[in-house]
Amino acid sequence: IKYFVRHYTVHKPLSPLAFAFDIDGVLVRGKHALPAAKRALAILDGNNEFGIKIPYILLTNGGGVSEAARCKDLSERFGIQIKVDQYIQAHTVVQSIVHQYADMPVLVLGGRGDTLRKVAEGYGFKRVYNTLDVLAWNPSVWPFHDLTVEERASIKNADFSKIPIAAIFVFHDPRNWALDIQVMCDVIQSGGIVGGPYVSKCARKPVDLVFCNPDLVWRSDFEHPRTGQGTFKEAFQAVFKALTGAAYPCVQFGKPTEATYTFAAKILSRHAGGDSVPEVYMVGDNPESDIAGANAAGWKSILVHTGVYNPQHGPPKHKPTHETEDVEQAVLWALEQEL
Ligand code: G3P
Ligand code: MG
Repeated sequence: IKYFVRHYTVHKPLSPLAFAFDIDGVLVRGKHALPAAKRALAILDGNNEFGIKIPYILLTNGGGVSEAARCKDLSERFGIQIKVDQYIQAHTVVQSIVHQYADMPVLVLGGRGDTLRKVAEGYGFKRVYNTLDVLAWNPSVWPFHDLTVEERASIKNADFSKIPIAAIFVFHDPRNWALDIQVMCDVIQSGGIVGGPYVSKCARKPVDLVFCNPDLVWRSDFEHPRTGQGTFKEAFQAVFKALTGAAYPCVQFGKPTEATYTFAAKILSRHAGGDSVPEVYMVGDNPESDIAGANAAGWKSILVHTGVYNPQHGPPKHKPTHETEDVEQAVLWALEQEL
């Protein structure tokens, strides 16, 4: 009630309040939902002294499955309904550029089997292939991996000598770095045709390369942070530079990029009523992605100590608005500032 009194009776209505939560290291650690996260989301879901619901989204560099599948999993873990329009993962933003490639053959990398093929088709891509399809077409592409029965069952048969790949999207963390880097180098150096003649940089048709998550590390349930998709990108660029003399130009999505935060801000504004820009509090565990991106977007940023960032290792590279132990303390602190 105090919030609504402030919001509607002051001379200039205050901006509505909204939250953006990172997931790994803030709400979960691996498959385990953090107890503080359940309490924090319950507060925003109306379990607070004013009985009001406060809008929030989940903004993660994770992915590998459809948004619907991840929301179902998270809703079950937290015992509340998390809707697809509250959820943005690493490759969600790719929906904003599908129209540029809709009928062109593209490679989508990462995740297990053909899960991400189906996700990409759900976004509107019509001709989606992966590196397992390439290996099934010609096993000599990479002689050190034999397709498993499960992998073979997910294959899309194609003759890649006749398929000009227009773009390579790394949606999620690749499972077979060697195979993926080999196919990426083949496709890019031959202007799109696996096994085609390598063409010089100035003569070849450019193949677009898009990465969806720059995280070098992220926090799962192991004692120390795990390497993320950002290290796969470093590995690919190091190999490509060793082979060709230069790294390959690419597009980067995911936190902290402006594209991802702009995409998220539009969704947050809709949740907050759409007629004014909300006051956003971003709660994250990774200074290089969550805090850097929120600060650049003009949001308030709260760094928690349950994930990548360890206060014993010194101050964070990107200064947050506030630091707390966990996400529940973060929500309570933010509400104290606003209510
Ligand atoms: O692969 C997920 C990881 O890079 C980070 O996830 O939720 O902390 O942005 P999140
Ligand atoms: Mg995180």
